[in-house]
Parts: sequence; structure tokens; C-alpha cells
Amino acid sequence: MDYSRLYDFAMQAYTKIPYLFGGGRTLRPLGLFLEVTYRCNFRCSMCQFLKLMDDPRLNEKLGEELTIAEMKSAIDQVSRFGVIFFTGGEPLLRKDIMEAVRYACSKRKTYLVTNGILLKSDLSKEFVELGCRNVLGSGMASVGVSLEGPEAIHDETVRAPGSFGKILENVRHFVELKKKSGKKYPLIALKCVITAATLPHLNEMYGLAEEVGVDIFNPITEYNMPHTDRLEMDSSADFNRSPDPITGIDIDLLRSELFKIVERSKSSRVQLRLTPPGISNEDIIAHYEGRLNLENKLCYSPWGTAAISAYGDLFPCSNFVVGNIRDEPFMEIWNNEKMRRFRREIKSRGVFPACTGCCNLLTE
Ligand SMILES: C[S@@+](CC[C@H](N)C(=O)[O-])C[C@H]1O[C@@H](n2cnc3c(N)ncnc32)[C@H](O)[C@@H]1O
Repeated sequence: MDYSRLYDFAMQAYTKIPYLFGGGRTLRPLGLFLEVTYRCNFRCSMCQFLKLMDDPRLNEKLGEELTIAEMKSAIDQVSRFGVIFFTGGEPLLRKDIMEAVRYACSKRKTYLVTNGILLKSDLSKEFVELGCRNVLGSGMASVGVSLEGPEAIHDETVRAPGSFGKILENVRHFVELKKKSGKKYPLIALKCVITAATLPHLNEMYGLAEEVGVDIFNPITEYNMPHTDRLEMDSSADFNRSPDPITGIDIDLLRSELFKIVERSKSSRVQLRLTPPGISNEDIIAHYEGRLNLENKLCYSPWGTAAISAYGDLFPCSNFVVGNIRDEPFMEIWNNEKMRRFRREIKSRGVFPACTGCCNLLTE
């Protein structure tokens, strides 16, 4: 079973009534993204935070990153059926991150995505121990590791020579530990953004995922998200601005690689999950061609998913900050006038040009 589809289904069911009748109000979030830091030990060429990472203010604001107590308090605001996602920057650069992860796992279903270079044995062991017992239980549900192509492509993309081999070794060890434990969770996912560089190797990467024995292969549609300067978050994000087009993609090759991996998935032990999960492969192709039809697209995300920046800003999408958890209680921000207006607007006018390629898009 594809649990990301199950999550989408749960999200739609959970948000349906507030979406239809809430007048912009909604229930507690079902999903919470915690962007725990924007520091990173890699410099991935397609990363939306690339410019931010080399901004000297990032180090000046080191002491202002979310504390563990703040993360715990935010986790408590999420529906008890909800899901916590740890991301960044590189979340494992936070030396204290496991305290927050442990807390999240004790209360909610938890996901973490990492570039894998710091995923050493002790951390993998702990992730396995924290694995949830079943699909409905709390605990570590999945750990995603980003591997941006085969060795030469990966190391060049992330600008860290020699990193591919180390990550692969870490993932192999993680898979081994999980196998020994006899546990189904956490699921281990290999993630790879579909870029001009990785595209010719997509099927090969699926093969690698099978050989290593991970649970999921997750190719991600590249998205040039506008407005990602988390140091300058304000409400002026212009959602009518389309993301910069993705360049250099051979569309015939994209079509044939997508076809190959979908065919492969029919008999593979490794589940294929394409991101965004809510749109068709033809839509993914249309996105790369710069002609995605947004008129038949919907988004429930602002009714069910919140994100918190490393500095406490709460936002539904992009840089559209609606409040800061250091200034006001989470639930007051989540249903404040600004947030309600935003929900009403997205409901009445449909998704924005800026949403092209976002992983929350759904086809009506
Ligand atoms: C921003 S990273 C942060 C977590 C961690 N540092 C990592 O590398 O996985 C989260 C995910 O976003 C993906 N990603 C990076 N740039 C992207 C882009 N332009 N479009 C879509 N996904 C992207 C990465 O592959 C990764 O799986």
C-alpha cells in the first residue's frame, strides 16, 4: 500500500468539512513541517535554500533557531492522528535533534529527511528502535535519504566530493539494522530530484534502490519555489508569480524514464512514489514543459498542514508568514484573520501560479 496516498486521503477527509463550511477556519493541523535549521553541509545546485545557506546572517542567527522546548510545544498542537516532518537545511546538523525526534515519535507519526552523510550507526539504530508498530501508530514512520543520482552526478550536484559512497554505506548499514530488527518501520526511502542531470539515470537509481534493499524509491519533481528567503519572511509573497521554468529537460527522455520506472514498479519489491503524489505523470511532464494546467488543481494543504521556520515563523506555503509561535499561541495564529483570508482566497480563486510543481497539488 502507498501510505503517502493514504495520508492524502486522510488529509482530504480531515479537511473536507472545514474547507467547505469553515469560512476559512479549520481544525488542528494534521501535518507539521519543522524546518529545524537552514544550515547545511551540502550545496545542492537545485536547492530552494541555496542562496540562504551562504548568507552570513544564518550564522548570526544560530542562537535563534527553534529550541527543543519550542519544537515539543508545536508538536503538541498537531492533531493526535497527525504527522510530524523534520526537514531543513540538514536536520541532522542539529546535535540536539534526536530529543525532538524522540518526543515526536512518542506522540505522533514522524518522518525525517536527510542528505544521509551524518546518518551514522548510532542514529540508524535509534531510528529503528523508534519505528512505529503499525501504520496507525505513533513512532518513526519513514526516514528519507536524498541521493541525487549516481556517484559522479550526485557528488557534483551536492558539491561534496566523495559523499555518495559514504551515504550509500550509511544507507546499507541502516537497511541491515532494520532487517535484523525484523521491523517493518521506519520505511527507508531513497529520494532523488528529477533534474536535467539525474533524469537519464532515473531507472538506474531505481535499480540501486532495489539492490540496497530500501522500501521506497521517491523521484521528486523539481520545483523552483519562489520566495524562499526564510530570513526575510513577510506577507508580500507574490503568489501570482510563476516559478522560474525548469530548463534543460529532454521531454522525450522524461516520458520514457517515467514509463520505465512505472513499468519497473509493477514487479519491484521497492515501492515507487512520485512527488507530487496527487497529480498524474502527464501533469509532471506538463510541469517540466511549463504548461501545467492549474485550472483543474486543488489544494487542501492550508487547511491541514502547517510549517514552522527555524526561527518560529508559522506559514502555510512559501514565505507567507501568518505569525510567530514566539509571539502568539500556535492555534491563534493558525486560525487568525490573515490565515482565514488566505484560505478563503485559495478556495475561491483556485491555486496560484506560484503553486506549479508544489508537492501538495491535487487534481480535482
Ligand atoms: C531541502 S531538502 C532538506 C533535507 C535534507 N538536507 C536533504 O537533503 O534531504 C528536502 C528535500 O527537498 C528535495 N529538494 C531539493 N531541492 C529541490 C527542488 N528544487 N525541488 C524539489 N525538491 C527539492 C531534496 O532532494 C530533499 O529530498
